[in-house]
Amino acid sequence: MTIAKTDAKICGMGHSMKRKEDPRFIRGQGRYVDDIVLPGMLYMDIVRSPYAHAKIKKIDTAAALKIPGVLAVIDGPTLAKYNLHWMPTISSDTQMVLPTDEVMYQAQEVCAVIATERYIAADGADAVEVEYEPLPPLVDPFKSIAPGAPVLRKDKKDQKDNVAFHWEAGDRADTDKALKGADVVVSEDIYLPRIHVASMETCGCIADFDAAQGKLTVYMTTQAPHAIRTVFALVAGHVGLSEERIRIISPDIGGGFGGKVPVYPGYVIAVAASVVIGKPVKWIEDRMENLQADSFARDYHMKVELGAKKDGTMTALRIKTIADHGYSNASANPSKFPAGLFSICTGSYDLKHAFCEVDAVYTNKPPGGVAYRCSFRVTEAVHAIERITDSLAQKLGMDPATLRMKNFIKPEQFPYKSVLGWEYDSGNYQGALKKAMDIIGYDALRKEQAEKRKKGELMGIGISSFTEIVGAGPSKDFDILGIKMFDSAEIRVHPTGKAIARFGTKSQGQGHETTYAQIVAQELGIPASDVQVEEGDTDTAPYGLGTYASRSTPTSGAACAMAARKIRDKARKIAAHLLEVKEEDLEWEPGKFTVKGAPQKSKTIQECAFAAYTNHPQGMEAGMEATHYYDPPNLTFPFGSYICVVDIDRGTGVVKVRRFVAVDDCGNIINPMIVDGQIHGGLNQGLAPALYEEISYDDEGNITGGSFIDYYVPTSLESPNWETDKTTTPSPHHPFGAKGVGESATVGAPPAIANAVVDALSHLGVTHLDIPITPEKVWRALKAKGAAA
Ligand code: CDP
Repeated sequence: MTIAKTDAKICGMGHSMKRKEDPRFIRGQGRYVDDIVLPGMLYMDIVRSPYAHAKIKKIDTAAALKIPGVLAVIDGPTLAKYNLHWMPTISSDTQMVLPTDEVMYQAQEVCAVIATERYIAADGADAVEVEYEPLPPLVDPFKSIAPGAPVLRKDKKDQKDNVAFHWEAGDRADTDKALKGADVVVSEDIYLPRIHVASMETCGCIADFDAAQGKLTVYMTTQAPHAIRTVFALVAGHVGLSEERIRIISPDIGGGFGGKVPVYPGYVIAVAASVVIGKPVKWIEDRMENLQADSFARDYHMKVELGAKKDGTMTALRIKTIADHGYSNASANPSKFPAGLFSICTGSYDLKHAFCEVDAVYTNKPPGGVAYRCSFRVTEAVHAIERITDSLAQKLGMDPATLRMKNFIKPEQFPYKSVLGWEYDSGNYQGALKKAMDIIGYDALRKEQAEKRKKGELMGIGISSFTEIVGAGPSKDFDILGIKMFDSAEIRVHPTGKAIARFGTKSQGQGHETTYAQIVAQELGIPASDVQVEEGDTDTAPYGLGTYASRSTPTSGAACAMAARKIRDKARKIAAHLLEVKEEDLEWEPGKFTVKGAPQKSKTIQECAFAAYTNHPQGMEAGMEATHYYDPPNLTFPFGSYICVVDIDRGTGVVKVRRFVAVDDCGNIINPMIVDGQIHGGLNQGLAPALYEEISYDDEGNITGGSFIDYYVPTSLESPNWETDKTTTPSPHHPFGAKGVGESATVGAPPAIANAVVDALSHLGVTHLDIPITPEKVWRALKAKGAAA
């Protein structure tokens, strides 16, 4: 499916149009939640638990309430009066809004102070005295799942252990048998640590309950405003907040990456405070609250086993996972997939036998499991298969590129049904890896590595040939809390031929205001600069499930094309009426209809739009607008091949990424510059967990990575010069052949880096290092092998 390029004035698909949203962002004129100030607005600050597990014996608010400007302290018992002290999570578990008797993780919300000024609220929070009785915490998921461990979720009456859920995919017995019969089996324990999205903007909201109108407006840092409105209505309908009385507005968002999908207690408390006090209440997290209490990502302990024939043909894959979900399963996964799309773990390889299982475990840590720039546990799956593939190459003494080429699903096998149930839409994995190898000069690098080894220098080359699965999703399988995962677009063409388009998704920096306008331009020939794009206001946008998991292009992008096509069909009727010919006598080129054989007779889309309001055919509805709810027939399967070259200092263990080539394929591209930006950002967010980031805990459940002093987010100084390129394999089922791309690089980069480091140390007998691969870990590995300088 090739897309004809429109001229630069129309600026349809394939043009690197500059981002329409950037002038306001680079001038500091974005409108984020914290920029909004409402008349009479109050401020909220939250008192948080210093303990990972404790009984609350007493909350003494007297000193706080004496501070001038402190108006109220809201605690669990206050909310319990309205039955608002617990809320459902997006994964159909339950979570405390505020505790009535026990806290379950460090930094958990204990109570909230409402005051006239932000700093008075903070002083009030400091003055609240809470008496705790510390209880032993369960920090290690393996201890938590062990028989006889005390049950953490005593609130759930049927809960007899600390297992949040068990999930599996594939045929266990068949895979066991295939592994037994394999010539060679490699096995690694691979841990993907808890990390945090650490977006530039923290979470926050302004809850504004207008008692006169009985209407609640919440300005909120959310990636999914409509779903949040429905959840609020379901949770608070009994206190009069029914859905037509709730308006959620997501203004500009400073990065979401999945972390702004869940409902955090702070949002609910602010709403309750506004309803009770009758004034707008603003709550904005500080950086440490954001890192310590908001949903984490990853935290998967995986035992990965891969079987193969002697010649390197992969035969069977088995993965057993213990997933630490913290005290509640609040991960943002589609209902049918509690472990997300982890069963994409066979990756780019034609494996005939596979089985994977996940045991999710409760511990005394913050709840969550967000899909951090990842389509629901795909990062974990890709890390497992790409790392173990290198282990197999090492064991067989084969080049990892040769091993991959041998086992890739071949282009002619698409659409390809994987043994774990997915139908991959299209792909050319050999093409992407070959291109990456040519760009980086793979053979020469291998020679250089051999030379360096002779001199005792450490250099490694790592490959990751990943397959992604994005665009949740077909409604037959995908829903969140029962709401099906379609998405929407509404386009209105005004009489003068300009347009406004609204969507059920919500950009957090991805550039939707530009790319959606380019889709309209492509389909209707209205210049992209004449199309205004709006998202994020539930009173005006059509219902949708929001933006995460690279779903916007596969769902709302598709809906946009379909809505535009409805408009084009109507415009054709109007053009035929104006030109007094039959519809079949008209030819379409972007922007105008021409009479076949009489090119001087034509009507532009703008003329058709004007006529739709001034001179439409009798019997036809006036106006020119259309809405489309797009239910994708399948997910899209973008892919890529990344090659990373590292040099390692024997004395310090410091890893330097010398080169990194990323060849991505996301089908047809709307805006090449934006896609490149997505890949650059994604690569940085892949570099981060590979080498730097980890949220860890001590034995008492104290967070040890809870500030930017310990949680090391890489800056431009640490980032290498990313070298990006592409191949183009369109999705056969998407209306314009596109696949999502937003998260590809975050998913694909970590194993490329980890594989490069292990490759540099492989001749010493190192087979695996868990990420983040810190200098200390490398140095210890070198020391253990007697190879540290
Ligand atoms: O859902 P999200 O916007 O995060 O992910 P996406 O659908 O992968 O899109 C990320 C950005 O890349 C958006 O601005 C898309 O319009 C753009 N994109 C593109 O230009 N061409 C593609 N084939 C895929 C995405």
